[in-house]
Amino acid sequence: MTKESLAVVIGAGGMGAAIAATLSRDHAVLLADIDAARAEQRAAALRSEGRTATAACCDVTSAESVYALAAMVGERGGFRVLAHVAGMSPSMAAFDAIMRVNLLGPARVAQALLPFAQPGAAAIVIASLGAHLVAVPPPVAAVLREHATQDDISERLRAELGEDAATSDLAYQLSKFGVLMLCRREAARWAERQARILSVSPGLIATPMGAREWETNAAKRRLAAMAPLKREGRLDEISEVVAFLASDRASFITGTDVLIDGGLAGAISDVSFGGGSI
Ligand SMILES: NC(=O)c1ccc[n+]([C@@H]2O[C@H](COP(=O)([O-])OP(=O)(O)OC[C@H]3O[C@@H](n4cnc5c(N)ncnc54)[C@H](O)[C@@H]3O)[C@@H](O)[C@H]2O)c1
Repeated sequence: MTKESLAVVIGAGGMGAAIAATLSRDHAVLLADIDAARAEQRAAALRSEGRTATAACCDVTSAESVYALAAMVGERGGFRVLAHVAGMSPSMAAFDAIMRVNLLGPARVAQALLPFAQPGAAAIVIASLGAHLVAVPPPVAAVLREHATQDDISERLRAELGEDAATSDLAYQLSKFGVLMLCRREAARWAERQARILSVSPGLIATPMGAREWETNAAKRRLAAMAPLKREGRLDEISEVVAFLASDRASFITGTDVLIDGGLAGAISDVSFGGGSI
């Protein structure tokens, strides 16, 4: 079997589509999403531009579904890039669902796809600015570290936090903090296969779906105004960095997080860095 340069992009929403389009300049793209029709529509759009793209259905919270995707990638000779973009924002779901999609999902994907990483491969997991703004008590950090791939992670976290504290907003921040921990922790294992794993934390990013919210949400505009760059980021300002991090030009970058937020985290909190223990 001849090895193709395959980029697996999981999540075919606004950011996933942008990342898939940028990666498709140099790679064949396999775009996976729980919404199979959305993934196929995005893949078809790329093909219409002359790129090589296929689609797959994958629910990142289901071990069976993730291992089926891994088998598909194995049949294609492995991957050169893995971008885990799928995620849920706090307004979309309750504590458990957010934790499962945003942390259990990437943890399972990283575990299942590692055997198919080609030498020189890179995995990039999309985290969030929110991961940089949360103080995580050590017992909670221990659950995030030790149970990221286990079905009972959200129950364990709720037991640690107390039911009243287990909000969607906190689930979002903790799940993304857990992603930062995951990439730091897994870097040594990925290095054994001459591969890298790291996270990218976008700040406020203008997505097609977010455009209306930007018009109506004064708090979001006020927050953006506090950033040195005083605006939302663009999708290409994320996808170009992901493409760089996925390339050999970033061959010494692993086990870390790249924050792309226009300087917002630094501007709003002197104490946020080191606020939690990764
Ligand atoms: N848009 C922003 O401003 C922003 C900022 C920081 C971080 N992020 C992160 O970027 C990522 C993508 O954001 P987006 O704007 O593209 O979101 P989006 O809602 O447009 O897309 C998310 C995609 O994930 C898919 N998905 C949901 N659950 C899934 C599952 N169980 N298995 C597989 N796929 C699933 C959805 O079907 C959807 O296509 C998320 O992880 C989000 O937390 C976004």
